[in-house]
Amino acid sequence: MFIVVGVTGGIAAYKAVNIVRLLVKAGHDVHVVPTDDALRFVGLPTWEATSRNPVTTSVHDDVPRVRHVALGQAADLVIIAPATANTLAKMAAGLADDLLGTTLLATTAPVAVAPAMHTEMWRHASTRTNIATLVARGVHVIGPADGELTGGDTGPGRMVEPDEIVDRALALLHPHDLAGLRVAVSTGGTREPIDPVRFIGNRSSGRQGVALARAAADRGADVTLVAAHVDEGVLAEASHPRITIVRAMTASALQGAMTDAAARADAVVMAAAVADYRPATASDVKLTKEATDRPGRTIELVETDDVLAGLVRRRRDGQTIVGFAAETAHGDELLERGRRKLARKGCDLLVVNEVGWQAGFEATANAVVVLAAGGTVAAEASGTKREVADAVWTAVLAAR
Ligand code: CTP
Repeated sequence: MFIVVGVTGGIAAYKAVNIVRLLVKAGHDVHVVPTDDALRFVGLPTWEATSRNPVTTSVHDDVPRVRHVALGQAADLVIIAPATANTLAKMAAGLADDLLGTTLLATTAPVAVAPAMHTEMWRHASTRTNIATLVARGVHVIGPADGELTGGDTGPGRMVEPDEIVDRALALLHPHDLAGLRVAVSTGGTREPIDPVRFIGNRSSGRQGVALARAAADRGADVTLVAAHVDEGVLAEASHPRITIVRAMTASALQGAMTDAAARADAVVMAAAVADYRPATASDVKLTKEATDRPGRTIELVETDDVLAGLVRRRRDGQTIVGFAAETAHGDELLERGRRKLARKGCDLLVVNEVGWQAGFEATANAVVVLAAGGTVAAEASGTKREVADAVWTAVLAAR
């Protein structure tokens, strides 16, 4: 999403750096518009480095691209944090004497403001009137919080913490259609130990399951994310106040964690790539070539439990269970295999995706077909893993 973050001249501007960082980390294209006053608190290089986009403050910059309205037109969401009393007054009056003012007049995107000021200023009749005007126009006011203010005062006027601002502002972009739902999602590839340094694993990056968890949390659900091995950096995208992360590296640990989480969940999604076999025994010490006199080595494998099948057996009333099927087939053969797997596993929905060295695993994009009971196609989705995740949740809602 294209998100404009307006930063105005208050000491809390330093905390807004974290807002920008969190938005970038969540994959958004962030454009910071600081006022001149804000730049006295935090300098331009900091905004450019954290947002990874050029930053300008004047309506006279980048004139050929009509920057004074282009940012507002492109925005999917505008967040002003901190919003000073002065900025709120200018917004209420519709003043456009700087880039932030013109951007706000040019946008039709949702606007969220996070006020920060001393208690007296927040309580002043002018500020009250300005806030009422903005609320009547549809502006979302986040805070202020009650607490310590600069200079030793305490009272309402403190800017709400960055993670909460981000969560509440992003909620404006998403329907809250999963609010009140508890969901459990598994993700990543399990690693079955051979010895202390070796394992049997797979190429799953965990991205699709993390996107599922994130999408559910953004749409209001409370999420338990059971994560096996997940690629470096991917799990960071699951940092959200409504996501609890539980690590479970092996098929057996994942089975325990998912069984626990599913006992409290309204919907369960098994996106993890669970090993079908594990070494019959894991050596306590590193296996060495020296310790064997034969060339080659045979590792005895035993079957792991089918976690999904177990969850289906213990299904709670009204619980929706979603499985994944990673197949190297395509076309009709892909769907036929999916239908057979759906019947075998007994889940409500099966997300079928084609994998290979080029598709599915590790990639950031994905294409899936969601099969519903009886093998009918409930949804088809392609695009980013987030887009696929949203389509899966919409299918879960439809199935409920
Ligand atoms: N799954 C599971 N426990 C296992 C293996 C798989 O819960 N031990 C789950 C996966 O998380 C996925 C679904 O079952 O949701 C299908 O996984 P997949 O590997 O495609 O199918 P398998 O059951 O392993 O069947 P096959 O290997 O024959 O395709």
